[in-house]
Amino acid sequence: MKTFNLEEYIRDVKDFPKEGVLFKDITPLLNHPQASEQCLQELLDLIGDLKIDKVVGIESRGFFYGTLLAKELNAGFVPVRKPGKLPYNTNSETYDLEYGTDTLEIHKDAIKKGDKVLLHDDVLATGGTAKAVVNLIESLGGEIVQCNFLMIIGFLKGSEKLKDYNVASVLSY
Ligand code: PRP
Ligand code: MG
Repeated sequence: MKTFNLEEYIRDVKDFPKEGVLFKDITPLLNHPQASEQCLQELLDLIGDLKIDKVVGIESRGFFYGTLLAKELNAGFVPVRKPGKLPYNTNSETYDLEYGTDTLEIHKDAIKKGDKVLLHDDVLATGGTAKAVVNLIESLGGEIVQCNFLMIIGFLKGSEKLKDYNVASVLSY
């Protein structure tokens, strides 16, 4: 049952982290246990009865619901992290930003060939982050069954970078 309008728990912050950006702040949602529980349930509803071996959560805001989803799905949780944070052997993927590049890393032994993988993050914006993580998962032989988001910012066209995948989100803007 949808008791809460989840949009009311996502705070718009103007000009953060830089001028011209409208930041979608999920901390009010995280701070409200019942609305947050509903959000988790809605994320699970997107997955339905898809079989998932591993949930990959993207540092840092993909960790919050990523670990909760993994527990509910009885799947392993795999953190993808910013460079130099993971201690063991990693694969890395560098991707373009508006100015410059960024890199994300995954442990080489976190996913086995043929694992069914759910990619989870809070926001799909330009899609650069998610596409880099798709590449990391596939570099290890994982099979992506869904790219799962709390929200999609439609005008930034991130879904186009994921057009070959099952993309699902609770909210769209
Ligand atoms: C934000 C957001 C997504 C990503 C989406 O993360 O949490 O991970 O940007 O942007 P994109 O689709 O344009 O790539 P951010 O890099 O701000 O880091 P954080 O999660 O650690 O706050
Ligand atoms: Mg993030």
